[in-house]
Amino acid sequence: MKRYDIAVIPGDGIGQEVVPAAIEVLEAAAEIHGGLAFNWTHFPWNCEYYLEHGRMMPEDGIATLRGFDQIFLGAVGMPGLVADHISLWGLLIKIRREMQQSINVRPAKLLRGLQSPLREPKDFDLIVVRENSEGEYSEIGGRIHSGEDQMAIQNAVFTRKATERAMRYAFELAQTRRNHVTSATKSNGISHSMPFWDDVFQAVKADYPATASSSIHIDALAAFFVMKPHQFDVIVASNLFGDILTDLGGAIMGSIGIAPAANLNVERQYPSMFEPVHGSAPDIAGRGISNPVGQIWTGKMMLDFMGYPEIGGLILNAIEAALSDGVKTADLGGQATTREMTDAILRHLRKQS
Ligand code: NAD
Ligand code: IPM
Ligand code: MN
Repeated sequence: MKRYDIAVIPGDGIGQEVVPAAIEVLEAAAEIHGGLAFNWTHFPWNCEYYLEHGRMMPEDGIATLRGFDQIFLGAVGMPGLVADHISLWGLLIKIRREMQQSINVRPAKLLRGLQSPLREPKDFDLIVVRENSEGEYSEIGGRIHSGEDQMAIQNAVFTRKATERAMRYAFELAQTRRNHVTSATKSNGISHSMPFWDDVFQAVKADYPATASSSIHIDALAAFFVMKPHQFDVIVASNLFGDILTDLGGAIMGSIGIAPAANLNVERQYPSMFEPVHGSAPDIAGRGISNPVGQIWTGKMMLDFMGYPEIGGLILNAIEAALSDGVKTADLGGQATTREMTDAILRHLRKQS
């Protein structure tokens, strides 16, 4: 029996509803596998914790997390309680950076049993590889002057190392799929970082002559996500472009509540972190109606990364089977509660064993 120590941070809002649901599904998957078990250790680090302690996690929080195999996180942020830039930089972004989770993998595909809001969508199956450590999300900048002259300056940071790492990851991933990489650029309008991004892309792609590639400006790419998402395989994007594209990826599947994500430390020197694309959804939190699919599919990505793609596959099958039965939460136009959606997935998962 192989045991894995997982740090669990449900976080805020619906994170506290969807994380327990996903843990139930992961427990059932481990039982079906028979040779795998989880030790879950919960950490109550969220905005309430901040109000009590003046920080989002204890001073030794990162050191504590380093002792785990992986981190399973719900969502962080309660804008009414704590400003987002404080809560997110104090927990989510801090973990991404300190654990060097420099690659964020975010798939979007047409699921069986789900109606996409797109009119007659062709079968799409794409993965956005989001650079997860720098880019537009930099700490460099500040406010100067005051009154009418006041201004804020924010410098984007693109290192060759991180840019190349994301692009190489995308090309390697494409080779296991349909062998096509699209680079999300904006070198027509952003005059330093994006031409640099293009140069690095040209250099990396030369190492993968058998892989087809293209470069598309982010504005046009966003439109293509709606008009013809089936044309894409792997898309590599900067931190901000990848962020925006992947909520759109969720939307074209049917809801951002089902979109999964993995923050990977590909070197496996530190734990990776598995948290869905969506946030804490304060508008629906506490009512038991949030969609657990994004968190459950994120759990599947954790199993894939840990070397158990077969049981990961069973989980995705169970999700599709439950949706095909018509069990859907409100964001998908249905009436199922979080509990009912989870139970339907558990039922189909156990049927496969
Ligand atoms: P959000 O993703 O929380 O919500 C956007 C909309 O989608 C809302 O209408 C919400 O009800 C709906 N939604 C999201 N997930 C859902 C689910 N699982 N089931 C049903 N409906 C769902 O985005 P937001 O409103 O911009 O952000 C709310 C808070 O979450 C903010 O503090 C934000 O910074 C934070 N946030 C955190 C993360 C994270 O921790 N990974 C990600 C995004 C946003
Ligand atoms: C995400 C979120 C975060 C991001 C926010 C909450 C900082 O939107 O994980 O997609 O922009 O990375
Ligand atoms: Mn986002």
